[in-house]
Amino acid sequence: MSELYRLSKVVQQYNGRTVLELDSFVVYEGSIVGLSGHNGSGKSTLMRLLAFLETPVSGSIFYDGRKVDGNGAELRREVTMLTQEPYLLKRSVFRNVSYGLELRGAGRDEIEAQVCESLIAVGLDPDRFMNRQWFELSGGEAQRVALAARLAIKPRVLLLDEPTASLDRESTQLIHEAAVKSRDDSGMTVIIVSHDHYWLDDVSDTIFRFAAGHMEY
Ligand SMILES: Nc1ncnc2c1ncn2[C@@H]1O[C@H](COP(=O)(O)OP(=O)(O)OP(=O)(O)O)[C@@H](O)[C@H]1O
Ligand SMILES: [Mg+2]
Repeated sequence: MSELYRLSKVVQQYNGRTVLELDSFVVYEGSIVGLSGHNGSGKSTLMRLLAFLETPVSGSIFYDGRKVDGNGAELRREVTMLTQEPYLLKRSVFRNVSYGLELRGAGRDEIEAQVCESLIAVGLDPDRFMNRQWFELSGGEAQRVALAARLAIKPRVLLLDEPTASLDRESTQLIHEAAVKSRDDSGMTVIIVSHDHYWLDDVSDTIFRFAAGHMEY
């Protein structure tokens, strides 16, 4: 397997305070990586670095063999993140899931097929849900629509930052299954932050444990 990410001597600080310090961190393409650790140990900070939403104060990030240096905006198209809060556009389910495909210039037939496939992947019946508005969904359904919207664009990397923290068992299970299937079917690299140790142990190829901004071995 080839290296997709390599972080070397990466330090992140907020207001002059170091919150993350990683000597070396490597993620292989097509793997499922679990991140665990206490509140405030730096997991979400690392996820924002991996999503190219932030730049570290020092150290280097290599992505797909190239040093990330000013090209984060371009790389952001390959990486998508789902957090605890389901962010949906104030539009129908269909428009939420089709939005990324429209931006990428996909044709109408492709969009319709992909929206259906993505909704099915997260356990939502397209006929029942496609035309619902964003406010006509439960929390678990909204989070699954948010995941479907991300899967629809077939990202190279799926970052899941506690995506099931406030969901019931059924929605949690469906999100878990969709994440693993994405890796198995299309080789997506999946990085998961979760306090659910059973899930992480079950699905991850590698688990990194964090404590106070450092990785424990
Ligand atoms: N934007 C920010 N400005 C200042 N401090 C921040 C910012 N974001 C995070 N921090 C601090 O950085 C540290 C690491 O936070 P981070 O969110 O990465 O932890 P976490 O491991 O994701 O925690 P949790 O399990 O609670 O989600 C914490 O001390 C937090 O207060
Ligand atoms: Mg966090």
